[in-house]
Amino acid sequence: MQSTKNTLPFAFLLLLVALFFVFANGEPYFSTFNTPTSGENQRGINDFSETWGTKRLLAEEQNDVNSSLVLAEERTARKDPLNGLKKYRGGWNISEKHYWGSVAFTAAPFFIMALAWFVIFGLCLSLICLCYCCCTREPYGYSKLAYALSLILLILFTVVAIVGCVVLYTGQAKFHHSTNKTLKYVVRQADTTAEKLRNLSDDLASAKKIAVAQVFLPVQVQSDIDEIQTKLNTSSYDLSEKTEDNQDKIEHVLDIVRLVLIILSAVMLFLTFIGFLFSIFGMQCMVYTLVIFGWILVTLTFVLCGVFLVLHNVTSDTCVSMNEWVENPTAHTALDDILPCVDNATAQETSIRSKEVTSQLVNVINQVITNISNINFAPNFTPLYFNQSGPLVPLLCNPHRPDFTDRVCDPKEVALINATQVYSQFVCQVSPSGICTTTGRLTPDFYSQMAGGIKLSYSLYLYGPFLVELQDCTFVRQTFTEISHEYCPGLRRYSNWIYIGLLMVSLAVLLSLVFWVVYGRERRHRVYTKTLIARTEVDKSS
Ligand SMILES: *[C@@H]1O[C@H](CO)[C@@H](O)[C@H](O)[C@H]1NC(C)=O
Ligand SMILES: *[C@@H]1O[C@H](CO)[C@@H](O)[C@H](O)[C@H]1NC(C)=O
Ligand SMILES: *[C@@H]1O[C@H](CO)[C@@H](O)[C@H](O)[C@H]1NC(C)=O
Ligand SMILES: *[C@@H]1O[C@H](CO)[C@@H](O)[C@H](O)[C@H]1NC(C)=O
Ligand SMILES: *[C@@H]1O[C@H](CO)[C@@H](O)[C@H](O)[C@H]1NC(C)=O
Ligand SMILES: *[C@@H]1O[C@H](CO)[C@@H](O)[C@H](O)[C@H]1NC(C)=O
Ligand SMILES: *[C@@H]1O[C@H](CO)[C@@H](O)[C@H](O)[C@H]1NC(C)=O
Ligand SMILES: *[C@@H]1O[C@H](CO)[C@@H](O)[C@H](O)[C@H]1NC(C)=O
Ligand SMILES: *[C@@H]1O[C@H](CO)[C@@H](O)[C@H](O)[C@H]1NC(C)=O
Repeated sequence: MQSTKNTLPFAFLLLLVALFFVFANGEPYFSTFNTPTSGENQRGINDFSETWGTKRLLAEEQNDVNSSLVLAEERTARKDPLNGLKKYRGGWNISEKHYWGSVAFTAAPFFIMALAWFVIFGLCLSLICLCYCCCTREPYGYSKLAYALSLILLILFTVVAIVGCVVLYTGQAKFHHSTNKTLKYVVRQADTTAEKLRNLSDDLASAKKIAVAQVFLPVQVQSDIDEIQTKLNTSSYDLSEKTEDNQDKIEHVLDIVRLVLIILSAVMLFLTFIGFLFSIFGMQCMVYTLVIFGWILVTLTFVLCGVFLVLHNVTSDTCVSMNEWVENPTAHTALDDILPCVDNATAQETSIRSKEVTSQLVNVINQVITNISNINFAPNFTPLYFNQSGPLVPLLCNPHRPDFTDRVCDPKEVALINATQVYSQFVCQVSPSGICTTTGRLTPDFYSQMAGGIKLSYSLYLYGPFLVELQDCTFVRQTFTEISHEYCPGLRRYSNWIYIGLLMVSLAVLLSLVFWVVYGRERRHRVYTKTLIARTEVDKSS
């Protein structure tokens, strides 16, 4: 993995997404998640932890029965050098070294070409150099056809090289834009996730202080809330930190890639142009200097070409795999190894528990309202009497029915979203002994406790479905669908552009180099023949 970090930003993007969910979706805090319930639910919690375990086991057993899905099977069937060049059949699996081996092997032709070019052209250059210095043979054998042909080919390859540079430059600009957009999307998803986790954690933290809850909720449940809250907080901070860290690293790599490609296309353009001019004007010394530079640059370009081919292949494999994974929600795949999703039933369990907690908190608040606030007790009813007076406090709306389906609020009820605001109108001023001295049915103390309860149940109501989505990977599926539909086509197209641009540039510059030399030779022969003819004519006439 270490080596891929620098060359395969896209795979890293994917890893980043995966990491989020490894974090956001780890087991411990969700298995105790459904705890803020009253005593009878303690049993429910234990059941829940147990069902979690067995369900996971069951799911795994099922996977053994049903053959697991090989992601991007056709695309990834490549020769594997780590396994005697046999076809690799394991599909997309970034924890599999044979996958990386077989993908990297697709670049082998380029690396071999680079090496061959470096050695062969190097030998040719030294040979030419030797001939040039030692055997000062008289050049002969001028042919008009060879001269014209070499000139035409020289011009052709120069044009192709220039076009290649343009393709490369545009390709890198578009690729950078594309990766930037993808990165931004992934980071935004991570940030929203972290923020939601943090919001829930904060609400749990404030709920901890509710005295109402302290009365109605068992001590152990309260300590469970504490634990969950801390874990949500920690994972939220970890997620933010990791996102920022990885974002910086990926941006850095992308910037380097971009810079290298820009410099390469500019240098190649300059080289082709200058080399063409020098060659046309017969400045042999300069041409040979440029040929040496070109020799090394072409080697580098071949290597880069191979690297981008690998990048392009990994990007395409990943895109295809994401798509297949999204389309086959029940199959076991290599992506499930990095994204610990739970099965649907377990996720539904979480959903039910969070709805249960919301309902219970609403019920507790409504009991307080009906049995204490809305009753005008006689002054001798000391613990419950605090001089309640004025209009009755409306009941809080329970968003769920007892069977946990969604429920529409009664017009007389107050919705969770603005309950805090509505109840603030019923707060009275109190004497030091805690007795209302003005009209009102809630003491400030009562009110703040109710507000805490309302905040928690609203928070659970709001973020419960999100937690479930995190847990059963619906959220990841949505993210992957978005990536594979919105961002993959661009990433694939432009990594391909860069690859084609690099290939064009390297081949065209390679051939240009050859024809600089060939044309230079033909030109010399032509000049020599011409002067020879001129001299013989002068000899004849004299
Ligand atoms: C890429 O993103 C960075 C920060 O997100 C921004 O500064 C830069 O301008 C973006 N580049 C392009 C080409 O959009
Ligand atoms: C988190 O809470 C703040 C204020 O409490 C709110 O503005 C923000 O929209 C919430 N974030 C999410 C993702 O719900
Ligand atoms: C969450 O964690 C951070 C540091 O990890 C800490 O500063 C903050 O007080 C915690 N918040 C809550 C509500 O526990
Ligand atoms: C597994 O196979 C059984 C029958 O053999 C089938 O009923 C079930 O839907 C399959 N499950 C998956 C996840 O493919
Ligand atoms: C992916 O590769 C790892 C490491 O070789 C292996 O343990 C795992 O089973 C593979 N996953 C799939 C789905 O083939
Ligand atoms: C999970 O189950 C619920 C009902 O039990 C169903 O509505 C939902 O579509 C299922 N989700 C998936 C991803 O299978
Ligand atoms: C509140 O009143 C309901 C009936 O309206 C009753 O069932 C319940 O036991 C009462 N609770 C308390 C704490 O008095
Ligand atoms: C409560 O919220 C609803 C919907 O947002 C709004 O129509 C209503 O006016 C609000 N009530 C109060 C008292 O703010
Ligand atoms: C009870 O509240 C009323 C206002 O509704 C107030 O006039 C009265 O003085 C209060 N009684 C005591 C004992 O504070």
